[in-house]
Amino acid sequence: MVFNFLPKKKNQPKLGIDISSSAVKLLEISFDQGVYCVESYAVEPLPPGLVVEKTITDVEILGNIIRQAVKKSGTSVKEAITSVANSAVITKLLPMDAVLTDEEIESQIRVEADQYIPYPLSEVSLDFEILGPAEDLPDKVDILLTACRAEAVELRADALDIGGLIAKIVDVESYAIERACRLMVDHIPGGLHQTIAVMDIGASITTLTVLNEGKTVYTREQIFGGRQLTEEIQRRYRLSFEEAGFAKKRGGLPEDYESEVLPHYLDAVVQQIIRCLQFFFSSSQYNHVDRIILAGGTASIAGLRQMVEDKVGAPTTVADPLVDVAVSPGISPAKLYEDAPALMVAIGLALRSFE
Ligand SMILES: Nc1ncnc2c1ncn2[C@@H]1O[C@H](COP(=O)(O)OP(=O)(O)OP(=O)(O)O)[C@@H](O)[C@H]1O
Ligand SMILES: [Mg+2]
Repeated sequence: MVFNFLPKKKNQPKLGIDISSSAVKLLEISFDQGVYCVESYAVEPLPPGLVVEKTITDVEILGNIIRQAVKKSGTSVKEAITSVANSAVITKLLPMDAVLTDEEIESQIRVEADQYIPYPLSEVSLDFEILGPAEDLPDKVDILLTACRAEAVELRADALDIGGLIAKIVDVESYAIERACRLMVDHIPGGLHQTIAVMDIGASITTLTVLNEGKTVYTREQIFGGRQLTEEIQRRYRLSFEEAGFAKKRGGLPEDYESEVLPHYLDAVVQQIIRCLQFFFSSSQYNHVDRIILAGGTASIAGLRQMVEDKVGAPTTVADPLVDVAVSPGISPAKLYEDAPALMVAIGLALRSFE
């Protein structure tokens, strides 16, 4: 079993919805007698330009695509959990008196938040979580304050609303990735008691989430992803965006793709990973990672895993978040497993139902 607790009865499944730049990814997971099961899922592609580097440009069109995804998945669940990018969020650890009630903490946060947040509080969504006793400060607890531009949260809630869903929770991407990693713990050599760099290489953004002892200790986003390769294929072979995307997955490109275009791109991916890790090392007390997990659609490119392992010098695996998860009979497992590395965020969001 992955988690050492059973969910309370009231924790009904909710949909995890990752609104990413290439697709709306929707997934429903149930939990019964220690087993997680994917009950329904859908990946609905988005036209280029609708979600640009995590920013929604047309909420109506997006809402209608969400509605289609819900229909295709066949789910009857109405409550959903979605996320904002790490870069849209500011977090701050605040020690506060342990005796305060939730209401008192909230009003104190409202007074103090001004100092930490570079936007007017009227434009910000605030949330807090009590993490536990503060280190070296008796009678204090650590409060994790999370603040996000209200617009980012509201646009997502509006899109879900148009899609016929209710946004129950808006989470942060890296927390979803952290949860999805816990699902594969039995298949990660060394488990979670080590420092793991999860590189989610999406269509437009590469997100690094570093876990130590299973907890997120660092996140970083770089504007780089599969789009660079799609655009190069479009340019070189005069193909449309859709044709280039299809060819990446299914092949059929001229010979120089394998001999020139792809190796050049894979080199760029490795350089991005090295750069991302260097930023992490230079802004933390860490100077190495024990393991790299590759996620996102780009992680599926054959040969990338080996190349990262050789050139970055850390054992590297491709994310397999559904390895211990059952699949409902109505779903084609082959397609789901093929999509799994790109579903880390949606899976982690759905898992939030059981916390
Ligand atoms: N089998 C594959 N081989 C090569 N590339 C692939 C494969 N599967 C998906 N991709 C590429 O992965 C990218 C999509 O990945 P993913 O679904 O993780 O992105 P996203 O979550 O929509 O983007 P972002 O997180 O940047 O908003 C696209 O560029 C797509 O062409
Ligand atoms: Mg993504």
